[in-house]
Amino acid sequence: MPVQVIVGAQWGDEGKGKVTDYLTARSDLVVRAQGGNNAGHTVVVGTETYKLHLLPSGILHPDKRCVITDGVAINPTVLVGEIESLRNRGLPCDNLKISPRCHLILPYHIALDEGQEGSALTRIGTTKRGNGPVFADKMSRLGIRLAHLQEPETLRQLLQENLFVKNPVLRECFGHPGFEVEPLAEELLTLGAFLKPFVADTAATVQESLRAGERILVEGAQGVLLDINFDMYPYVTSSHPGASGATLGTGIPVNAIGTITGVAKAYTTRVGVGPFPTELDTELGDRVRERGAEYGTTTGRPRRVGWLDLVLLRYAARTNGFTELCITKVDVLDQVDQLQVCVGYQRGGVDITEFPHTAKGWEQIQPVYEAMPGWLRDTGDCEVESSLPPDLVRYLRRIEEFVGVPVRYVSCGSNRTAMVVRP
Ligand code: GDP
Ligand code: IMO
Ligand code: MG
Repeated sequence: MPVQVIVGAQWGDEGKGKVTDYLTARSDLVVRAQGGNNAGHTVVVGTETYKLHLLPSGILHPDKRCVITDGVAINPTVLVGEIESLRNRGLPCDNLKISPRCHLILPYHIALDEGQEGSALTRIGTTKRGNGPVFADKMSRLGIRLAHLQEPETLRQLLQENLFVKNPVLRECFGHPGFEVEPLAEELLTLGAFLKPFVADTAATVQESLRAGERILVEGAQGVLLDINFDMYPYVTSSHPGASGATLGTGIPVNAIGTITGVAKAYTTRVGVGPFPTELDTELGDRVRERGAEYGTTTGRPRRVGWLDLVLLRYAARTNGFTELCITKVDVLDQVDQLQVCVGYQRGGVDITEFPHTAKGWEQIQPVYEAMPGWLRDTGDCEVESSLPPDLVRYLRRIEEFVGVPVRYVSCGSNRTAMVVRP
């Protein structure tokens, strides 16, 4: 099967960018399929560090083709900035195509996201990149798509319709001055002219690639536990980060997918508000945060840190059909002498088998831990399975046994080359 999908198996930031960059070497077409510039993917190549929000991580390989498909919401200012920044670093981005069906994240979406976060009783801790409002507009059929930047009159009309509804909310609810059609239209038309050479029917590109038997790699964004349908609603994002997100809007049929690679850290992190059963609000958690440089790629916020939750990882594997796992950032745990992994949940001392369906319900559960010895050895220079410390191999085997999916890749450092491939 030619299609491989990378899925964040936790709450995002698992290292999908690094894994995508690594696997691009043996792919022909790299696809970014969903989410928006709430994503932040850091890729380290030698001494260079790249932070990508919309561009697929495959873009760092100029000999490979990349597409951004329909399911991605695009902030055109951010996208143009990202392309220009890579060009300044010697990467021309000539290998990029963007779907005209991508919805646009506009300044009023960001203002609404900020307004809602500032005033709502339930603060989600969003990235304030306008994701909730843009996907709400898409579903309400009020959205503006990339294709509209080539139709100035349609664009002006759509902006007028949108601002008619949004300006009163911005002004009356959030004390924001609101937006005017004309300056916004002018700015968008300029961005549209810049982006025009990149616009192409990416669904057709994907179909051609499939027919030619090429190897397609789909880069995930966010993580399974942030899916809009997950039980921790409303502490989720507004899209579908799981494997199904790779087919919605890309034109890739479900049965063309051969490999689904779940990427998980050797521990867990979460940015933003919401339940986190294995959170380590301790000095050890602080140490892991510092050693793992756990600060958001998009917002710079400190990430919350916790033990590996095998119950949630098994849920992610089962609901997304992971065929293999990639465990990242094992080097971050090199100096921790005793590890805990969560193997069950209890409420009031009684085991539970079903997830709570509300955020409040999640707050009432306690994790059940199993202790495992740390490996207390530097893994940064491990290149092959046989060089991994025995206690790390035991840790990986426990993951495989509990989750029921083989660990194929072990990432021991941020650099492109730091990857152990297991037989
Ligand atoms: P993504 O959103 O899933 O692509 O992940 P992020 O890029 O937001 O966060 C992962 C961070 O960990 C980035 O800074 C990576 O450079 C870094 N990283 C990835 N894999 C490893 C690893 O195995 N070890 C270490 N120490 N850092 C890693
Ligand atoms: P990558 O692709 C981590 C989180 C936010 C917040 C919630 C909703 O880098 O893994 P949103 O702005 O989407 O409305 O915020 O989702 N979130 C992420 N957390 N990594 C991401 O992307 C995220 N994208 C959104 O922190 O809790
Ligand atoms: Mg990230």
